Amino acid sequence: TTVSTTISSDNSFIKKLKASGRSLVVFYGSQTGTGEEFAGRLAKEGIRYRMKGMVADPEECDMEELLQLKDIPNSLAVFCLATYGEGDPTDNAMEFFEWLSNGDADFNGLNYAVFGLGNKTYEHYNKMAIYVDQRLEELGATRVFELGLGDDDANIEDDFITWKDRFWPAVCDFFGIEGGGEEVLMRQFRLLEQPNVQPDRVYTGEIARLHSLQNQRPPFDAKNPFLAPIIVNRELHKGGDRSCMHIELDITGSKMRYDAGDHVAMYPVNDTEIVEKLGKLCNADLDTVFSLINTDTDSSKKHPFPCPTTYRTALKHYLEITAIPRTHILKELAEYCTDEADKEVLRSMSSITPEGKEKYQSWIQDACRNIVHILEDIKSCRPPIDHICELLPRLQPRYYSISSSSKLYPNHVHVTAVLVQYKTPTGRINKGVATSFLKNKIPGQEDVRVPVFIRKSQFRLPTKPEIPVIMVGPGTGLAPFRGFIQERQHLRDEGKIVGETILYFGCRKKSEDFIYAEELEEYIKKGTLTMKTAFSRDQSEKIYVTHLIEKDADLIWNVIGENKGHFYICGDAKNMAVDVRNILVQILVTKGNMSETDAVQYLKKMEAQKRYSADVWS
Ligand code: FAD
Ligand code: 2AM
Repeated sequence: TTVSTTISSDNSFIKKLKASGRSLVVFYGSQTGTGEEFAGRLAKEGIRYRMKGMVADPEECDMEELLQLKDIPNSLAVFCLATYGEGDPTDNAMEFFEWLSNGDADFNGLNYAVFGLGNKTYEHYNKMAIYVDQRLEELGATRVFELGLGDDDANIEDDFITWKDRFWPAVCDFFGIEGGGEEVLMRQFRLLEQPNVQPDRVYTGEIARLHSLQNQRPPFDAKNPFLAPIIVNRELHKGGDRSCMHIELDITGSKMRYDAGDHVAMYPVNDTEIVEKLGKLCNADLDTVFSLINTDTDSSKKHPFPCPTTYRTALKHYLEITAIPRTHILKELAEYCTDEADKEVLRSMSSITPEGKEKYQSWIQDACRNIVHILEDIKSCRPPIDHICELLPRLQPRYYSISSSSKLYPNHVHVTAVLVQYKTPTGRINKGVATSFLKNKIPGQEDVRVPVFIRKSQFRLPTKPEIPVIMVGPGTGLAPFRGFIQERQHLRDEGKIVGETILYFGCRKKSEDFIYAEELEEYIKKGTLTMKTAFSRDQSEKIYVTHLIEKDADLIWNVIGENKGHFYICGDAKNMAVDVRNILVQILVTKGNMSETDAVQYLKKMEAQKRYSADVWS
């Protein structure tokens, strides 16, 4: 036989499809789990149309086998692909993307469809999905249904179910499948209660390896985070009703290294109070030890999270319980209502009727109702806890721009984080998972350790210190620039010649949320930093960093045009970053004598040369 040496037979999705009589394979490119979830939902729905499906991770598959898919009658490959960062594929789709773009395989006979997950506030909206959809056609494959594009800035759930609703009829048409069967709700995982399992076999919050939090072993990464003690947790705001934390993590002994501009990721733990509440609402004994086991034995994902564990641990460490639930969860919840009217409301909100969508938007999304709120307000709905554990998405690590320089603090990672806390239209207080978790970590008290890992970024100071830099970072957008400034100061202290370091900072009020004001003043005094500040709420008219930049057109052109300096933006992706970029284009037009097209090209070139970088989030 000719089994490839690098790819074991386990990686053969063709074999799996054939062995289990399936014809639909749904691949996902997913970074935070949404793409994977969508893929799972599509694969599961196939059964209604007599297309038994399976989900597959391109990273675990021999993707060249796509060329053999046509040997399976009426087969279809669907791709749910997220675009990440600056238009990049997700980590798990990287290799597939490279193979597809560099190769010239003949995809004749392959039937496919693509749904993309993107965010319109970012520049390269859905770049990956658009590319793969077009590339597969170019290589001879047959597009069974048009590309779907989901926008996470608006309502990606709506985009997905709307696309899906037209996708299935198109698939039926294409393969001559007559009429779909009734929708059947099926569990993907079966419950196994394990009262007799040895206590030391039970997961207690580890991300992958059992006891990895007790027996810490490098290298540390996303699957094996380092438990870093918080040694400083200080309030940065001097007034106002919001809170911004300055946090210092100790990474001594971890062998983790970082550079200014990198991100630190942390795994938060859900609030005990909300966990207990959810347990009560589901009449659960949270100490029960259990496993959820995939009913699809071909799946490489045996459990939705580390098992066996207790319900309490699952709710605290493994599940996103405060996120706004998607419609498929509501559909499943409906089955557990004893009251017909309640059942109808939940069913309607998970449907694609205009009224249902409107109700979902107002009652769930606008009202910021999470699973606990839904169960509190729909009193006849009492789902079993194990099904809730199957339905909720996996708790994701949160990323923070490191706000220190490793040149000064090789063993410490600084974080600058705003506490997320807001009142919802139903009068409840919603709390951000990670920032509330951090807020309670007070050095000197019990356990102040947080599971963390470092993610390298492309956000870097110029390698030559004499190159001037402009940094635009209002609010917590200041975070990575604090590291940059520390580093430039350090270089000057070492006697190096350092180019101009210009910071545009903005906040609401000088007396309240001007974070790190004293430090920044020191750098100005030492002649390292030039700072321009915009206090938006200190006068009747708003003043933003964008206004300052517009006024400083000559300076900006001098630095980036004439002196080939670097330009950085950090912070809010939604409005600020877009506005700043547009103003930059205008400055290139007026001061650089460029046409608008040339100005845009010029920025693109700066980006390619790493002279223009953004570190933005929404
Ligand atoms: P979550 O539990 O995740 O809740 C946040 C969600 O609540 C939001 O997505 C939104 O859906 C909802 N929400 C929030 N406010 C409201 C409101 N008023 N009304 C309705 N809904 C609302 N954050 C920093 O503070 N500092 C940083 O340096 C930083 N750097 C980042 C770098 C990167 C690359 C990325 C991707 C993000 C960065 N963030 C940073 C954001 C950070 O990762 C978290 O998203 C943030 O701290 C919130 O996490 P949380 O778990 O506390 O909130
Ligand atoms: P505001 O909240 O008063 O509108 C940090 O969040 C600072 O950025 C705040 O002063 C905020 O002002 C300001 N800000 C809001 N939108 C902005 C935009 N589009 N461009 C620049 N700054 C903005």
